[in-house]
Amino acid sequence: MNDADPRATRADDAHGPVRVHEPVLLPECLNAMDLRAGMTLVDGTVGAGGHAAAFARALGPDGLVVGLDRDAEILPFAERALTVARTEGGARFVLRNLPYSDVEHALSDLGIASCDRAFVDLGVSSLQLDSPLRGFSFMRDGPLDMRMDASRASRDAAAWLRGVSTVELERVLGDYGEERFAGRIARAIVEARGRRPITRTLELVDVVMRAIPPSARHGRVHAATRTFQAIRIAVNDELGELERGLPELWRSLAPGGRLAAIAFHSLEDRVLKRFFKAHAEVSVKKPIVAAGDECARNPRARSAKLRWGSKRVA
Ligand SMILES: C[S@@+](CC[C@H](N)C(=O)[O-])C[C@H]1O[C@@H](n2cnc3c(N)ncnc32)[C@H](O)[C@@H]1O
Repeated sequence: MNDADPRATRADDAHGPVRVHEPVLLPECLNAMDLRAGMTLVDGTVGAGGHAAAFARALGPDGLVVGLDRDAEILPFAERALTVARTEGGARFVLRNLPYSDVEHALSDLGIASCDRAFVDLGVSSLQLDSPLRGFSFMRDGPLDMRMDASRASRDAAAWLRGVSTVELERVLGDYGEERFAGRIARAIVEARGRRPITRTLELVDVVMRAIPPSARHGRVHAATRTFQAIRIAVNDELGELERGLPELWRSLAPGGRLAAIAFHSLEDRVLKRFFKAHAEVSVKKPIVAAGDECARNPRARSAKLRWGSKRVA
């Protein structure tokens, strides 16, 4: 969602007005999920609950939404959206601060044997991007953190950058960021951290800007976008989570159940494609992408790819 977009919805929380994350490919997701009244659905990346609230409405009052997110700070937003949906005749809901790779554990704790539908919308939420303290944004100064899990048990981006080798950093920037200046940026980061640790978002932006040729500094996409994306994916082990989480989500599905997933990166999409090919009875051959008007309204939608697959009926 774009600040200048007059259609941007806003909500107030204790800290004043905040942008609300706009769910991508929402009509396409509703279509792919093929929801019926009373079903149990797991949203493994519930975020601010935009998709989950729409699913809850489609499931009706006898349905159940189990929402998971590894970021505890985002769950109150999901709770708010799902409470509104519930008061309007939507499904019951339960939220848990867990990664989706723990879905089997989450369901067994709740006494739920299996679910009818599962969904993940990968990547980062606008709410996370907008908070300078989370360190995801190259637009705002803040600590170089980028951890999605609220427990803060893992290494933050600053610590990760202190320890990573030049070779590994170049690989991460190239593979996860598809950054054509990966080598130059990796060497510049290692040189800069030799003088003093890089601990702030805008310090990293400065290193990236100096590393790339002047002609590449002011393109349509901010020059630090790919570096920040790559480091975020590495710090949160997002591809590892996907490799571990997909089989867990699949095992949680009842026979005939359906899993849908939105990827924002070609490597994620490749993992999904391969997974559905190996396991699904029916799946989409080509990913579903956003229409031009959604891409114009919501830049995040431009790289979104939706795939779904259904499990054999017993
Ligand atoms: C793109 S947002 C989801 C937005 C949501 N569909 C909505 O409409 O508000 C992705 C969310 O997934 C969460 N997330 C990312 N990786 C996760 C994981 N492995 N397990 C659980 N949550 C995860 C992030 O913290 C973030 O809140």
